[in-house]
Amino acid sequence: MRAYRRSVYDLGMRVLVSLLFLIPLCAQPPQDAPKKGGGGQRQPPKNLKVLKVQGPELIPLMRTYTVALGGVKCDYCHVAAQPPDFASDENPKKEIARHMITMAQEINARFPDGKEHVTCYTCHRGDPIPKMVPAPAAPAAQ
Ligand code: HEC
Ligand code: HEC
Repeated sequence: MRAYRRSVYDLGMRVLVSLLFLIPLCAQPPQDAPKKGGGGQRQPPKNLKVLKVQGPELIPLMRTYTVALGGVKCDYCHVAAQPPDFASDENPKKEIARHMITMAQEINARFPDGKEHVTCYTCHRGDPIPKMVPAPAAPAAQ
């Protein structure tokens, strides 16, 4: 049972890792979009209410969210629009995610060493809605 679970997990990880490589492709602006200021740089974010990150750190951080929640797409939290509109707050999950970001910051601030110990993954572990109890079929502790 355990070995089976592990191999399912490994497979899941492999799928996740390959998805990670695909995400940048999906996130690229359309070919004919006008490229501004130095080789297709994104416009600076205009609707950050809780994050302090800027520039090149933002998208890698967004990717950690997609992974923590089990390989969801960007439009799990962002409105699905073409061209993408990441500044929009239309998708209610985005506001939930803001709340989560603040909550994780508050939890981390309570650790005595002041370091980051709790991330989205700490709770979510690849699930948009973290489990409260072990799955019923889980074998009893040995
Ligand atoms: C779990 C939810 C979630 C997922 C998934 C997610 N984002 Fe975000 N994203 C947010 C939140 C929340 C903010 C706003 C943060 C704030 O207010 O400080 C944001 C902000 C942004 C912004 C800044 C927009 C602006 O102009 O203010 C960009 C760009 C962005 N996300 C891109 C992405 C991309 C690309 C992906 C997929 C790789 C992605 N996001 C996946 C939650 C998410
Ligand atoms: C302390 C544990 C914890 C941490 C840390 C945490 N979450 Fe959550 N998150 C939860 C729980 C529990 C739920 C489900 C709440 C519910 O059932 O209403 C949830 C729900 C969500 C949802 C809504 C999912 C849905 O489909 O309804 C989003 C989006 C989300 N979290 C994003 C994040 C992001 C992004 C981070 C990291 C910045 C994060 N969470 C960190 C515990 C956590």
